[in-house]
Amino acid sequence: AGEKGTVSERSFVMIKPDGVSRQLVGKIVSRFEERGYKLVAIKSLTPSPALAKEHYIDLASRPFYGGLVKYITSGTPVVAMVWEGKDIIRQGRRIVGATNPLESDPGSVRGQYAVSVGRNLIHASDSFESATKEIDLWFSEAELSSYEPTAWGWVM
Ligand code: PPS
Repeated sequence: AGEKGTVSERSFVMIKPDGVSRQLVGKIVSRFEERGYKLVAIKSLTPSPALAKEHYIDLASRPFYGGLVKYITSGTPVVAMVWEGKDIIRQGRRIVGATNPLESDPGSVRGQYAVSVGRNLIHASDSFESATKEIDLWFSEAELSSYEPTAWGWVM
């Protein structure tokens, strides 16, 4: 499992606290389900500072890093998920939309619901390497389900 471009590709997707507080969890989950992707894991939690810092470690030198970590750990939970299916890493980024809401496609999650880069609702892994690292960081092996999906969208 997990090879680039195979049907079993997985991505880490996180609805950030603004998505939870705005009660958009169901709508966001639906977009992935309706596209035909398979839900492998889902949980809501308030991440520890250590987890949030590690997740965003590549941004450690950026001016917004501290504020982003503080926000993610503020106490309103996030919804952490693993989605699986054909091209989920690149498709997940398209479903999410561009980071800057001014540039996100109006059909994307951010394009429909977000107006601020600091409150852009959702994160999705940007590469196979990030996906592997992030899934391992947020989930234990036992939390990742294995089952046969039946949706039409699952067919290659
Ligand atoms: S990069 O490295 O320039 O490509 O970064 P980018 O993809 O634009 O953004 C990486 C993540 O940083 C978040 N971000 C911000 N958060 C809070 N405030 C500000 N100003 C800000 N700018 C960028 C951005 O949403 C990305 O987070 P995730 O959660 O991965 O989408």
